[in-house]
Amino acid sequence: MVNRIATGINGFDELIEGGLPQGSLTLVSGNPGTGKSIFCMQAAYNVAAKGKLALYVSFEQTEKILEEQLTQFGLDIKKLNGKLKLLFLDPNDPDVMSTIQKEAKKINSEFIVVDSLASLTSGPSNQSANFTAQQIMDSVIPVPIDSENLARMKVKLILDTIRNTKATAMLTSEIIHGQDGYSRDTLSEFLCDAIIVLHSVEGEEGFRTLTIPKIRLTKQKSGIYSFEMTKKGIIVKSSE
Ligand SMILES: Nc1ncnc2c1ncn2[C@@H]1O[C@H](COP(=O)(O)OP(=O)(O)O)[C@@H](O)[C@H]1O
Ligand SMILES: [Mg+2]
Repeated sequence: MVNRIATGINGFDELIEGGLPQGSLTLVSGNPGTGKSIFCMQAAYNVAAKGKLALYVSFEQTEKILEEQLTQFGLDIKKLNGKLKLLFLDPNDPDVMSTIQKEAKKINSEFIVVDSLASLTSGPSNQSANFTAQQIMDSVIPVPIDSENLARMKVKLILDTIRNTKATAMLTSEIIHGQDGYSRDTLSEFLCDAIIVLHSVEGEEGFRTLTIPKIRLTKQKSGIYSFEMTKKGIIVKSSE
């Protein structure tokens, strides 16, 4: 039987047999402003509230802003007694991957969020190779190494790193307008075990939907589900 980690997001877990398979990697994709960060943060908070150690790495929001965001949804990080660690990192720091690995190990995280893969692969550091020769040789991706391949290698490296921690993880990504797929790097959707896509319908204030195009080891309820962002956070409607 597959062990599952409930996200605690109202209405969501019942779409996926009760939760994300333990140790799986989930890509949370969508356009900007669709609620990806809030979705992941709420899941991390809920997991920590159940007593598991969670790490939320953001390349976009400082710890202070993240805390404020939690407060807006009535979530007080102080109540978690340190079970949820918020970490704001510079995606262009060449040591960023090892920092995440160390932090995950240090607190023995069972749940990890990386927000976002896109900022990790589209920053200026992507123009220069900050990989060791060994890492390049170990990569399944063939040379030549242009910035696109470099971005893919970086994604593979970070997903491998996170998978090796055995934590259940959520990684946010972006849908690129006019391009197929669920990420800027075009690879993470294949390397992840699950994909959740959030949409907000243009011109319809507050109308948001969620789909689950892929989830391994799980009999999911397929369909398009609407969700709301309320004062208590995200609520997914169980009917389509
Ligand atoms: N306190 C709040 N109450 C309701 N909706 C909010 C609140 N804060 C942010 N939002 C909505 O969430 C969106 C941002 O969510 P976020 O998770 O940061 O998006 P993403 O990470 O996909 O860019 C905003 O565009 C806004 O519509
Ligand atoms: Mg975000």
